[in-house]
Amino acid sequence: MSLSKTTKRPARSSGRRRTKIKRVCIMTGGGDAPGLNAVLRAFVKTCGELGIEVYGSEDGFEGLIQPDRLVKLRPSSVRGILPKGGSVLGCSNTANPFAYPSTTRGGKTRYVDVSAQVVERIQAHGIDALVMVGGDGTMGHGRAMMKLGVPVIGVPKTIDNDLAATEVTFGFDTAVSTATWAIDALHSTAESHDRVMIVELMGRYAGWIALCAGIAGGADVIAIPEIPYDIDRIVDKLRKRSEAGVTFSIVVVGEGAVPADGARATIAAGRDGHLERLGGAGAAMAKLLEGRIDHEIRVTVLGHLQRGGSPSSFDRLLGTRFGVEAARLCKAGKIGHMVALRGGEVISVPLREALKAPKLVRPRGELVRVARSVGIELGG
Ligand code: F6P
Repeated sequence: MSLSKTTKRPARSSGRRRTKIKRVCIMTGGGDAPGLNAVLRAFVKTCGELGIEVYGSEDGFEGLIQPDRLVKLRPSSVRGILPKGGSVLGCSNTANPFAYPSTTRGGKTRYVDVSAQVVERIQAHGIDALVMVGGDGTMGHGRAMMKLGVPVIGVPKTIDNDLAATEVTFGFDTAVSTATWAIDALHSTAESHDRVMIVELMGRYAGWIALCAGIAGGADVIAIPEIPYDIDRIVDKLRKRSEAGVTFSIVVVGEGAVPADGARATIAAGRDGHLERLGGAGAAMAKLLEGRIDHEIRVTVLGHLQRGGSPSSFDRLLGTRFGVEAARLCKAGKIGHMVALRGGEVISVPLREALKAPKLVRPRGELVRVARSVGIELGG
């Protein structure tokens, strides 16, 4: 793919609500998700049809903070990227314009607000709208940029599927498929060795990936953040399987899962506008099970495999639909809106809706009832 760098043109009037959008900048913020390239491809192609010039900001906001990181995107630039994982523009979890890491002379990291610099660059390059593809963190930055006068349009993305404004986010389907494949693979080795296999899945504070992959993969136990687990119930389930002559079990643990009387497992605390890093929930459950069941226990952390690889056809399709709609919103000058899937239709909703309380699994909802009906123990 060939990307050429942007040339400056005289600044236009600052971020008032505009209806005539001729030049836009798109970025893929936060962590990556399968389907980002489908969005970029569809957006750039549709903008080409609509006569809108497109620039891309590399590595999220980095392209608007650092020099020479804005690239011109033409339909030819996005050729062949549909089946590729990741984002050809790159992503960044750290390029937060309101808390941007900078190293002091003493080698320490401090976090500075560079948002005014970003607004200046946007104006200097004559960018009429910023199209932000991201999750709740990115949308939060989008809202904050709007308050500084930057016209923003949003496209929801996250493998966690926890954005309330849309029924599904792209990336989720691929992540669930990968996790289901992993559970299938763990079945055979669990059976050969008569073991209890724990697999820790992503999803942050939402149990969508764990619950959906756990049901699809035929797990025996699923622990999700929305239902704090009682370890005695899980021990009981595993013992009963043993007594019934079943020599192995599969336990799925969402990374945000918590024991009823314990704390969430984290790797690093959140600070300065950056989220805490979750990790260790599977190992924490293994520790609680140790010595209470007859089987050996092994823990697999599937990690970023869930975010990588070629997107599923569902995510390619949803990403393409979102990309087309985002370009249409630009053409219509619908600033402050985000594309969303509702009732199977792609629509647009006010950006603030993306920041409502996260969409979590309902502990008494249909999916949980389905899991219980097929004998899965949820620990609570
Ligand atoms: O939000 C997507 C996600 O993959 C979460 O499921 C996970 O907790 C987090 O990002 C991991 O982030 P990082 O790539 O910074 O380790």
